[in-house]
Amino acid sequence: MEIVVSGTRPTGHIHLGNYFGAVKNFVELQHEAQCFFFVADYHSLTTHPNPDDLHDNVRIILSEYLACGLDPEKSTVYVQSDIPEVAELYLILNMFAHKGELERATTFKDKVAKQEKNINAGLLTYPVLQAADIVIHKALKVPVGKDQEQHLEMARTFVNRFNHTFGVDYFPEPQAFSYSKELIKVPGLDGASKMSKSAGEQNTISFYEDEKTIRKKIMRAVTDSGPTQPNSTPPQPIENLFNLMALVSTDDVIAHFKQAYADCSIRYGDLKKQLAEDVVAFTTPFKEKIEAIYHDDALIKRVTAEGAAKARASAQQTLRDVREIIGIRPF
Ligand code: TRP
Repeated sequence: MEIVVSGTRPTGHIHLGNYFGAVKNFVELQHEAQCFFFVADYHSLTTHPNPDDLHDNVRIILSEYLACGLDPEKSTVYVQSDIPEVAELYLILNMFAHKGELERATTFKDKVAKQEKNINAGLLTYPVLQAADIVIHKALKVPVGKDQEQHLEMARTFVNRFNHTFGVDYFPEPQAFSYSKELIKVPGLDGASKMSKSAGEQNTISFYEDEKTIRKKIMRAVTDSGPTQPNSTPPQPIENLFNLMALVSTDDVIAHFKQAYADCSIRYGDLKKQLAEDVVAFTTPFKEKIEAIYHDDALIKRVTAEGAAKARASAQQTLRDVREIIGIRPF
């Protein structure tokens, strides 16, 4: 079975865009590959989060991923910092990463622009840590979006350099794998962009939000003054609302509002009310599960301990091999 690795930085609650764009695919992948899913808490240290926030965010992302259907019986679900071998491999791979290529990473350049007072070496070597995450399990496939493709390219460069330096064929080249065909782009509520936290809190709907907040956000979504010509194509903001409906509403409901748009009888207030209704019906069961898991200390402890044990077994084997290859050998 193919080995798949994916990490998520703990930065708060996931929203519908994260769910349909990634997590739902992870849940399906579990049946097709040997999956390692981890919380990338070391990676968040580059921006110096407050310790309590960091800890809570790890619990949140674990609760949400488990509630969405990541199954610790099928996959290895763990916290990156529970695997010290990752840090060791990161140190070793740093010797195969060149300063110039690290500086050319788009994500690094973005960070430099955003946090000019804190351009630490961890930011520069972020792609090396990511490469360590992946190759520590000798993974072939990494399910990530377009923004991560450059990091995967860099991971291939580092491991090829490693292999070449020692004349071995040890690490396989990991490939970014996007679920492109089925990849659902979830629109945000601002009428323009896709659902993303970077477009602001008002643009997203997360599972943890209460009914009232969800309704309010949807009622405020951007619309226009309504169709004037029968059978016209809806402009982006309206198209976005229909696309959201496509994810949570029944076919009948969708057909009803499409017809109303086509014959110019649509009232956006009604459409939004129905959409809010259907979003709440969709998110509520997730919200309840997330809350139950979040408060279940024993479950979180057990899942992370079992995940760490499985991930470490795989990581330790790799480190034994790597140490042998590079000449760090016991006397
Ligand atoms: N850099 C990824 C992101 O920002 C998170 C990540 C860290 C990751 N390590 C990884 C993703 C390993 C895939 C594989 O989304």
